[in-house]
Amino acid sequence: MLHIGVGGARWTPIAAWAIALASGFTAGCAREDARVHLERAAVIVDAVGAPAAAYFTVRDERTRADSVTGVSADVAQFATMVSPQPHRMPTSGGSRAMLMSPVATVPLGRTGQVRFAPGGHTALLYNLQRPLAVGDSVRLTVQLQSGRTATTTAPVVAFAELERVLADSGSMPPSGGTPSLVEGKALYRSNGCITCHGPVGYGDGVVGRTLVPPPRDFRDSLAFKAGRDGAHIAKMLVLGIPAGGNMPLYAHLSNQQRASLALYVISLRDTSVSDAH
Ligand code: HEC
Repeated sequence: MLHIGVGGARWTPIAAWAIALASGFTAGCAREDARVHLERAAVIVDAVGAPAAAYFTVRDERTRADSVTGVSADVAQFATMVSPQPHRMPTSGGSRAMLMSPVATVPLGRTGQVRFAPGGHTALLYNLQRPLAVGDSVRLTVQLQSGRTATTTAPVVAFAELERVLADSGSMPPSGGTPSLVEGKALYRSNGCITCHGPVGYGDGVVGRTLVPPPRDFRDSLAFKAGRDGAHIAKMLVLGIPAGGNMPLYAHLSNQQRASLALYVISLRDTSVSDAH
């Protein structure tokens, strides 16, 4: 069994499929093609489920059918691709709920393009040779089914900067207003959180009671796998939980809406438990 140095036991299931799907580039037939472009690329560290994640757009000037079959990064021993898949659980208002699953290929669209973006197709980077920090850069390569490859240098950016860096125009995302508890509580109701986490977050919603592992009981912040502070909770709503159960993604909400949800989740915490640690 290959040793995967990406953390404790809870990463193991991810590591296992990562190995299965890790895209070994077949040196002989891979060839750089100037008509394939790897654009608007960025890497974040401390991704959910891997030490780093890469996002980018692949654009092929030819529009014949092709697919991304592998991603590699100079700093990572291996990389793998995950994509959101429709969620099987019935959730009220949660029709866009998706879960991340490993995929072997990601097809280019009819225009010869495909975008890897938060909450969508994601390349997870494992076994980093050196720790990465904001300001570093990573050499990324994608390989297509046709054997062609494209390479670019991607900056390592803060999670909050991602939308701006990946945006087509380079414009700032709408700044919106200030996150609030009131907004968080309303969103908790309108986004189906209640069906799983229950009316006040005990993890005892109608659907939640049927799930294994069960939905998080928000009173117990020590059980949070992806981080217990607001920034980590907001990020988890986009990227998911490492080796997570049926917690859907909420990448379609705005940054402000996710921050409001995080405020509300934190407000349901049992402070006598969290403060004791
Ligand atoms: C389909 C059921 C379902 C819905 C809907 C759902 N959750 Fe979850 N949630 C879960 C499950 C299951 C887990 C625990 C998964 C695990 O342990 O791997 C979880 C875990 C969490 C966690 C803990 C994350 C961590 O780091 O461990 C938070 C916070 C959370 N959910 C917030 C929300 C919010 C906010 C919403 C609504 C916007 C929501 N959930 C909607 C099922 C759901």
